[in-house]
Amino acid sequence: MRRLIVGNWKMNGLRGAEKEITRLGELLTPDDRKRADVVVCPPATLLGCLVEEAAAAGIELGGQNCHIRPSGAHTGEVSAEMLADAGAKWCIVGHSERRQDHGERSALVRAKAEAALRAGLTPIICVGEKPEDHEAGRAEAVVGSQIEVAMPNIGISGGRFVTAYEPIWAVGTGVVPRPSHIEAIHARIRKTVGPDTPILYGGSVKGKNAGGILSIPNVDGALIGGASLKAEDFHEIISARW
Ligand code: G3P
Repeated sequence: MRRLIVGNWKMNGLRGAEKEITRLGELLTPDDRKRADVVVCPPATLLGCLVEEAAAAGIELGGQNCHIRPSGAHTGEVSAEMLADAGAKWCIVGHSERRQDHGERSALVRAKAEAALRAGLTPIICVGEKPEDHEAGRAEAVVGSQIEVAMPNIGISGGRFVTAYEPIWAVGTGVVPRPSHIEAIHARIRKTVGPDTPILYGGSVKGKNAGGILSIPNVDGALIGGASLKAEDFHEIISARW
């Protein structure tokens, strides 16, 4: 089955990053393109700069966060409509770093997902347990309630969404959960989102572990942080065998 591979550049990248997109386009083989859809979510400041290179490379762009309103007196914020206007087709919402650094809760994440849908973007809704929840064996319950609250009302908004399971203890740590853990949590998410919503895994995905992770049942793709910054590293993940 075709996989969705999304790069989240987080707060990294300055002008000149176009060359990474162009290089990735050069590295992607016709077979890679058959097996995976590739999305890069750069900082909002770079969206406009990358549009042409991304189109030439056959890669779609996404934002990393959006406000719930289309415009107005919200200093420092960027709306989903602005991301779409700048060339984005996707938007990450509810990333654990937003939940931790900005106190975002699942109800707000849902409003952001619905705002993204209204602007014509596909939201990528992130969920994942904290280390203490993992240690206490509460991962399934925590993630289950996060996705139940954060899931947008498709009936009202229209369009489709994607979910991403990112256990916080695996983000940027080099630690990857056991396959049985990923499988159990993805099965729990599947119960809520149904058969047609892709579920990505994120957290320390690299070229050498991508094939194994992408072979786990109900893992429909991956959300990559550090290893998406360099075209060669990102391509190693996309071209992994699953
Ligand atoms: O959104 C992707 C991210 O949180 C995972 O980061 O660096 O562990 O791949 P990383």
